Amino acid sequence: MNELFDRDILSGEQFTLDEIQTVMGVAHDMRRRVAHGTHLDNCHGKVLASLFFEPSTRTRLSFETAMLRLGGQVIGFSSAESTSVSKGETLSDTIQMADQFANVIAMRHPRVGSAHEAAAVAVRPVINGGDGIGQHPTQALLDLFTLQQELGDFDGRTIALVGDLRHGRTVHSAVEIYKHFNCRLILVSPEQLMLQRPMVESLHKSGVAVTETTDLESALSASDAVYMTRIQKERFADPSEYEKVKGCYVLNRELIMRTNSRIVVLHPLPRVDEISTDVDDLPGAAYFRQAQNGVYVRMALIAMVLGKA
Ligand code: NCD
Repeated sequence: MNELFDRDILSGEQFTLDEIQTVMGVAHDMRRRVAHGTHLDNCHGKVLASLFFEPSTRTRLSFETAMLRLGGQVIGFSSAESTSVSKGETLSDTIQMADQFANVIAMRHPRVGSAHEAAAVAVRPVINGGDGIGQHPTQALLDLFTLQQELGDFDGRTIALVGDLRHGRTVHSAVEIYKHFNCRLILVSPEQLMLQRPMVESLHKSGVAVTETTDLESALSASDAVYMTRIQKERFADPSEYEKVKGCYVLNRELIMRTNSRIVVLHPLPRVDEISTDVDDLPGAAYFRQAQNGVYVRMALIAMVLGKA
């Protein structure tokens, strides 16, 4: 059986390099088979519970597409208001109920640690699709998959992570994954939104070369890829703090052409104003391809935890 069989996927930290490489390999295989039009039935007779207590477009739809492409079926909800949570049901009860209906649970919830809480009560594997400002491990794996696709190889590369590094859960998971590679990271953010110190220290400890700056232009010139992120408005307790940093970094075509015309541009999406639409038709603009890769990586993860890869 594969290494992820019957396991929860909760954080970037849980993965060994071997496991990451296995997921990448299975995802490549899924991508090839979908591209060839192969009919897959790995998960025939299996049900995914897709429980989204917090807004989502890509993550929810790509988990659901992944299960459908594997020949399985999907149940779930896309907002807590439409469920018994609005009657006061606890997360633990909702999860224990879904556990009776489905073979695997994908979930998103606004509270840090919620996916761990769910995994503690569920018999079925739980896959974390984002827990507040905590973790978003499937996004980090699809980001890595995309970087490998776009750059050919990730080792030895320099990636600029830009924007709200303090609240961005995709970045929090990504740094855990990137620790296993020989890469350089340039962290670009306003002072208020820097990556938390323990995460920076742990990157240093694992041998990743990290620099921190507020200057996007110099970071672009020095990088092979740039990972733009949205300022996470919904995570600010004080709206006036958000007003101070909103719109702080905007990547547009002119800036790319001036600093590094070959740079690969990623973004977990949704974007607000961090990437101008005039970037979209540059060859390096990879964010919609990145979203598509989410389906292949989630196909790999679902099939692996169900022992059907
Ligand atoms: C991200 C998220 O929800 O953390 N989106 C996603 O999953 N693709 C990023 C964001 O909302 O800014």
